[in-house]
Amino acid sequence: MSKIFGVLGHPLGHSLSPAMFEAAFWQYSMEAEYLKFDLAAEELSSFLQKARTQPIEGFSVTVPYKEDILAFLDDIDGKATAIGAVNTVVNKKGKLKGYNTDWFGAMRALEEVTALEGKRVLILGAGGAAASIVYGCLIAGAKVTILNRSLGKAQELVERFKKLDLVNGLKAATINEILQYPADILIHTTSIGMAPNTDASLVPPEYFKRGMVVFDIVYNPLETRLVKQAKAAGCKVVSGYKMLLYQAEKQFELWFKKKPPMQKMEEALLQALQD
Ligand code: ATR
Repeated sequence: MSKIFGVLGHPLGHSLSPAMFEAAFWQYSMEAEYLKFDLAAEELSSFLQKARTQPIEGFSVTVPYKEDILAFLDDIDGKATAIGAVNTVVNKKGKLKGYNTDWFGAMRALEEVTALEGKRVLILGAGGAAASIVYGCLIAGAKVTILNRSLGKAQELVERFKKLDLVNGLKAATINEILQYPADILIHTTSIGMAPNTDASLVPPEYFKRGMVVFDIVYNPLETRLVKQAKAAGCKVVSGYKMLLYQAEKQFELWFKKKPPMQKMEEALLQALQD
């Protein structure tokens, strides 16, 4: 019988995960399907109850349920608990265990171009995506500052991670103070600059310095205004789609205990981004 996987979220019209996993299943001739579980919030609990007994072996979790789902799971990995968000579920003989692979995806993408230990990292935004990335940067030994439009949310993230004894100089400030926070690595985690509002960027061009590493997690368009300005200033750029690719790599490993065909998954992802 075909094994069932999928992505849980709402809405899922533009989800890129099916393209990546279908390409991997095809490449390895696996009897597996990857479905879209597009659910309203009130359906979450009954869906998860069914998932325990049906042959749903695992699923990805995306907006808006990455935080809400924690309350319904049987077990949660320590890293996902620390981040406060689950993006991957494994069905272990009827018990649902939650993991977070977003932090891994972001770190893997960054580590292709830079080491993190001891580096000054500036994170723009303080939402769910930022929480995963702050966690990854802290455990890699970076010195992190979080800048957000509302200071309160950035401070909440700082407080969350302080409890974990991971702070290493962790600070919060507002985004309009950006010029006072020079950094080795800049990571943008909000949706500003995403299509159709591609003319927007939170970063004044004079902020960019030659040699700085710049990572914009927005991948639609593949080159945001922020990325174009960073490149023009001589920064090293990390493509946003890589975080998506590498978080999916880790999901595949959690479900199948083996490496996925990364080249095929990357080709499928880039193709889906063009469709
Ligand atoms: P996600 O889970 O994708 O990170 P989120 O939790 O809704 O999404 O977080 C969105 C982030 O984008 C927040 O940091 C938000 O800032 P506030 O906390 O001040 O709301 C930021 N954001 C959204 N719109 C913004 C805008 N127009 N200017 C600056 N920051 C913005």
